Amino acid sequence: MRVLGIETSCDETGVAIYDTEKGLLGDTLYSQVAMHAEYGGIVPELASRDHIKRLIPLIKEVLVLANTSKQEIDAIAYTAGPGLIGALMVGASTARAIAFAWGVPAMTVHHMEGHLLAPMLEDSPPEFPFVALLVSGGHTQLVEVKAIGEYQLLGESLDDAAGEAFDKAAKMLGMDYPGGPLIAKLAQSGDRTRFKFPRPMVDRPGMDMSFSGLKTFTLNTVNKFKNADGLDDQTKADIAAAFEEAVVDTLAIKCRRALQHTKYKKLIIAGGVSANSRLREKLQAMVEKERASLFYARPEFCTDNGAMIAYAGAQRLAAGQSSDLTILARPRWPMDELEGL
Ligand code: KG4
Ligand code: ZN
Repeated sequence: MRVLGIETSCDETGVAIYDTEKGLLGDTLYSQVAMHAEYGGIVPELASRDHIKRLIPLIKEVLVLANTSKQEIDAIAYTAGPGLIGALMVGASTARAIAFAWGVPAMTVHHMEGHLLAPMLEDSPPEFPFVALLVSGGHTQLVEVKAIGEYQLLGESLDDAAGEAFDKAAKMLGMDYPGGPLIAKLAQSGDRTRFKFPRPMVDRPGMDMSFSGLKTFTLNTVNKFKNADGLDDQTKADIAAAFEEAVVDTLAIKCRRALQHTKYKKLIIAGGVSANSRLREKLQAMVEKERASLFYARPEFCTDNGAMIAYAGAQRLAAGQSSDLTILARPRWPMDELEGL
């Protein structure tokens, strides 16, 4: 079965074709990052308008890349939420219209389920069950995953998502949006021991998290060390390193708790922040101590992409599911409302 996947929930237009026998056949992406950088964050209306401009050309391009004719497509999968309503509507209405015109079903896909399943696109994917850490710009959640659609929330951030905290800390250091990759790069030349940032909520039981306090701590440190010319380069790098270390340590402590709680031996990490190499390094060391294994997707499939949506749609199609004729766009959509296969 061959599925065309469409992702437009935020600031990336992603389109891909996944075949349940042959794997990923083609994948294209247009990132709006440069357009939004000028404003220091995502401008929703600009995001929607740009998706309109990019989506059809990308669909045409991916059909060529995947050497696939429209007659060979068995379904169109689209991100129906969570995300920005206008951005979601572009993908949803385009996908629904194409599905109708081509006489195939449309499949609604939950964006975070897409992220969660992205490591399945790699060689030697994990088998169920496992613990999933979903860390993106909008979500930070620990989930017990028994199978596709069988998700139990173990813990989540009570305030800012980890990616959001990275972006805000980057802004305080005078860096562009999205700040996660920039902080990570700067942290490489930083001294990770000069500043000690707090590890929020690790002294409390449970798997919930909080990252907004780290923002205040970052701001106070910036204010304390800046002079008339701002911060010197080394202090900036040291703050970036201390911040990254605090987020990564906190996530690692909560992930270890989730493994111990579920007694599972597999941890998968997904979403934009899972591209962070310090996080991967620390989690790798932690899972080795727990005699468990760590799984993640290649960096371009950690951030938003069409491949994860095509994959998730294909699994649900193969299990006999399909969606009705509604054009579905849900800005908020708890993942535990999803059905199993
Ligand atoms: O999953 P994603 O592309 O979009 C959402 O669904 O939110 O995640 C984007 C987030 C941004 O906050 C970005 O700063 C963060 O992921 N991010 C990173 C890295 N790459 C992306 N954060 C830390 N380190 C990275 N290498
Ligand atoms: Zn995402």
